[in-house]
Amino acid sequence: MTNESSETFINSLLGQMTIEEKVGQLNQAHPEGWQNTEMIRQGKAGSLLNASGALTGQSSSDSIGAELTNTLQQAALETRLKIPLIFGRDVIHGYRTVFPIPLAQAASFNLDLSCKAASVAAQEATASGIKWTFAPMLDIARDPRWGRVAEGNGEDPYLGARMARSLVLGYQGDDMALPNKLVACAKHYVGYGSAEGGRDYDNGEISEPTLRDIYLPPFQSAIQAGVGTVMSAFLDLNGIPATANHHLLTDVLRGEWGFDGFVVSDWESIAELIPHGIAENRNQAASLALHAGVDMDMVSQVYLDTLLDAVQAGKVPIQEIDEAVRRILRIKQRAGLFDHPFTDPRRFSREVLTAESRQLARQFARESMVLLKNKDNILPLRNFRRLLVAGDFINARAELFGTWSPDGRAEDVVPLDQGLKDIAPKDVEFWFADNVDKAMEYALQVDVVLVLLGEHPYRSGENANLSDLALSPGQAEFIDRMVAIGKPVVLVVFAGRPLVITRQLSQVDAVLYAWHPGIEGAAALGEIIFGTHAPSGHLPITFPRATGQVPVYYNHKNSGRPVTMNGQFTSRYLDIPNTPLFPFGYGLSYTSFDYSNLELSQPSIHGQIVVRAEITNSGGVAGNELVQLYVRDLVGSLTRPVRELKGFQRLELQPGETRSVSFTLDEQMLSFTRADGTRGTEPGRFQVWIAPNSASGLSGEFNL
Ligand code: NOJ
Repeated sequence: MTNESSETFINSLLGQMTIEEKVGQLNQAHPEGWQNTEMIRQGKAGSLLNASGALTGQSSSDSIGAELTNTLQQAALETRLKIPLIFGRDVIHGYRTVFPIPLAQAASFNLDLSCKAASVAAQEATASGIKWTFAPMLDIARDPRWGRVAEGNGEDPYLGARMARSLVLGYQGDDMALPNKLVACAKHYVGYGSAEGGRDYDNGEISEPTLRDIYLPPFQSAIQAGVGTVMSAFLDLNGIPATANHHLLTDVLRGEWGFDGFVVSDWESIAELIPHGIAENRNQAASLALHAGVDMDMVSQVYLDTLLDAVQAGKVPIQEIDEAVRRILRIKQRAGLFDHPFTDPRRFSREVLTAESRQLARQFARESMVLLKNKDNILPLRNFRRLLVAGDFINARAELFGTWSPDGRAEDVVPLDQGLKDIAPKDVEFWFADNVDKAMEYALQVDVVLVLLGEHPYRSGENANLSDLALSPGQAEFIDRMVAIGKPVVLVVFAGRPLVITRQLSQVDAVLYAWHPGIEGAAALGEIIFGTHAPSGHLPITFPRATGQVPVYYNHKNSGRPVTMNGQFTSRYLDIPNTPLFPFGYGLSYTSFDYSNLELSQPSIHGQIVVRAEITNSGGVAGNELVQLYVRDLVGSLTRPVRELKGFQRLELQPGETRSVSFTLDEQMLSFTRADGTRGTEPGRFQVWIAPNSASGLSGEFNL
């Protein structure tokens, strides 16, 4: 159907609907709706979400099957106007094939892989009757105390925007009506990651320029990529809860960006307008949210319970309801649900957990792991025979999934101990110890100790916030005891966030940050530890030295007394340096790279400027380098960040090989939001870097 004929179809349907039927479309029923075909038959649901593990995102739940969704869909098609349901679920980083957590995916800086993984997730979820995922989460997160950093792409708006695009395209493809494509949902609009103190659901205060330049770009990018839906956030942003924010949901999202899909609230976030203190009762909460631009009510049933009366009493204009219904029908139509409401149940066995999807998951896990330290090139492990593998994670299976993996199954995972053995050279003698006494005894008898520990997935994800980013209880002591034996120690950390590992970094020989790597994490780890592949991940988020240093992020402002100035009264701590433990963009390989000969195509940008440098693999093995482009606007009408990422490229280099890398900077990439809300560039000097991370690199200057 053309856009025009599809709008005609929707309008004609809308013209036939009663107010009750319209209000029904705005309701996304509670998971119990899955047992309630009567409610569907009465036209009281436009969507069902299945989310038994989804209240917190931390547990597995029963998978959905096409037989079930088909039965429910049949009930919907027995209503007067036969409007199909759209089935939603949190398919966040894979379905049955669980990929690394989103934060780890961002660490790969591999847009192609993230697109492919989203596409596999879409194939698997749709084979189970799901047509809508509540992903991608696009919240910029500068505070790793917040448990949901695991679910997003980290702290940077440029990376976030690039990832947003590839994820939306992966889920939806060019045509979300195809049977193996999902409707995506850009969430949580907006500012959710700014919750005070890292406490989930808490308030945020974000200035307009920061909102525009840091928090909104990933969402705008998702809209440009054609995302079908957006989810409003729980938080109170600058005094107006995001779910009641007309300016953001209507003026910006629809007015400025031209979004024509629909907005769903977060779980009960419409009813939560009451405790927020912006609505007195459910009636007021419903009218505020609807007027702001929230089309579908997730779970709270406030729309279902109040809107009919409100329209009849003249308190809510029917046009607002019509517009919300129109948007929902538009996406249902675009998703092909009117033409193909059912799912072929035979797809599941053919299309879920295939050899290719596992292979992709393995590659993704490998490319997301970040090597943080490698003293004397101890990794990859070679020239040793006896290896002790010790720590809380040695038998990990489902623990490798991380948060939001309700459809992952522990039995699909090769446990870490087995995975390592499968990859290791045949003559390696493995010793395993999951408790400290055994580990100490064995450590005396081996050549190298590999310690596997970190966060259990329950310690990461929705509302899994921490006031202290230290390793989990007992783990620091475990490492103390291991290093005391005097054998080389390699530490592998599994986590959903940056943890403070300052002390451990100085104690051990190597640190590999493996995040929660997903279903193929064990094999991927083996491939890196034993060197069949070199690590290539880079940090998508700054690693603090201490929890008290949070928030710490690379694109901060300089202050009037930066720590780099001499003197006692500069902006700093007395007890720790200002620099983070590891900067954004940091990551080692098994080789080293030299950067040289930075050149600019001209001294001033005229529309564009090309920035070039040469990168040499100066080590002994092949390696893949993530080359990053940063700029700094040295003087502006508003103070500007000390660096901003503007590009990245990967280079595969053989030992001794040198290659030139070039980036084209468009003038428009230097624009920013000014105090009066306008966006543009300002003439002046700019610094530019081609760099291996956000804290180093070669730099030059140009004028605008
Ligand atoms: C609440 C979460 O905030 C949101 O991200 C999720 O999609 C919904 N629950 C549905 O499970």
